[in-house]
Amino acid sequence: MSKAISGFSKLTKEQKIAWLADNYFQNPDEATSLLKQYWNDDAPLQKLHDEFIENTITNFYLPLGIAPSFTINGKDYTIPMAIEESSVIAAASKAAKFWSTRGGFKATILNTEKIGQVHFKYEGDAQKLTQFFETVKPKLFSDTEDITKNMQKRGGGILDITLRDKTALIDGYYQLHATFETVDSMGANFINSCLEQFSKTLRQEALTYAPFTEEEKHIQVIMSILSNYVPNCVVRAEVSCPVEDLNEDKNIKPEEFAQKFVTAINIAEVEPFRAVTHNKGIMNGIDAVVVATGNDFRAVEAGVHAYAAKDGQYTSLSHAKIENGIFTFWLDVPLALGTVGGLTTLHPLVKFCLEMLGNPSAKELMQIVAVAGLAQNFGAVRSLTTTGIQQGHMKMHLMNILNQLGANDNEKKATIKHFEKHTVSHAAVAELLEGLRKTDTTTIE
Ligand code: MEV
Repeated sequence: MSKAISGFSKLTKEQKIAWLADNYFQNPDEATSLLKQYWNDDAPLQKLHDEFIENTITNFYLPLGIAPSFTINGKDYTIPMAIEESSVIAAASKAAKFWSTRGGFKATILNTEKIGQVHFKYEGDAQKLTQFFETVKPKLFSDTEDITKNMQKRGGGILDITLRDKTALIDGYYQLHATFETVDSMGANFINSCLEQFSKTLRQEALTYAPFTEEEKHIQVIMSILSNYVPNCVVRAEVSCPVEDLNEDKNIKPEEFAQKFVTAINIAEVEPFRAVTHNKGIMNGIDAVVVATGNDFRAVEAGVHAYAAKDGQYTSLSHAKIENGIFTFWLDVPLALGTVGGLTTLHPLVKFCLEMLGNPSAKELMQIVAVAGLAQNFGAVRSLTTTGIQQGHMKMHLMNILNQLGANDNEKKATIKHFEKHTVSHAAVAELLEGLRKTDTTTIE
């Protein structure tokens, strides 16, 4: 029988939980108490979280960790990272420490332009539409003055609006393609409000535009929405040092390490299967900071991958070279981020993370986030081209395995010690635990 329900949103939180538990769980009491275990005792704090979204039933925890030792453009940072994957923060911290003694990270904002579009259909003379657009363009700006007033005070606003003919793709399809500067806000609401006003003005003005025929007067707006593809909102993060300074790993000569590293990057540049995983490693760093600072990681993900495919083939976001004995490794990444608005002033931990970063501007946050991505990528590619990824990863993953197997503190201590010298695998941990459980673990050092 269908479990569709009407009026669900009007139920109280308790009623929603009761409905869920009764309909989907073998043991409704157990399911209910699990959900309640994750509620915060501080009622106003819980209410705040409940109201972020609809139909909230509980909180879903992600660990918040910190990666210290980052030097970016000469300034020191401890970077907050919200992520569930073990070894990401360890890799970031290790890379940060490594580069802190080799000049640190440099980051540069290349541009900060955001984009929004009104997609519409117009069946008629294209030239007349162009003339109409030129006539109506000043009104598109003036009709949005109420929306843009505050943004202009902060140094932003609408940069330009152009008419784009897309009829080669779909009959009668045109766009108003608008560019925006949204300063310290991500700008989604601002952009969408401007676009919806553009679409109103466009439709209304067309109705009374004398040169149009009756049919031409009826512009059909299909939709008005920002684009999460922001190829002109890009930040570059970079590290470089003399090749001989890549000397931390005694098992590999700096020259060989540099050459293997650059080749690994070249592979990600030309081989999409590798590029996707390579970029996933970059996103481990980027997403963790984006989430911790209350930004929209889905928007960032969508935009970043579109950017990685912008030249027709999906490729690496990072690049590396050796020139005149200098190793350089860099990353260009589009990031539409905000440090005001949205969750930034609402979520107490987001505020905390932003304060930890010195309450950065959106531009500074772009730099920090890009650096976290580059550090992560450096750590991953360094491991891949030297020890392999599993050694470090499984060591970090050990705690997850121990928790899955219900290990107590003594068992954890003993197991971690054992695996300092042995290769971690699920089976090996299970076997060791079984052995320990046959002995008195409280005596194990
Ligand atoms: C794992 O989360 C990320 C890596 O696969 C990234 C990479 O392969 O470069 C290690």
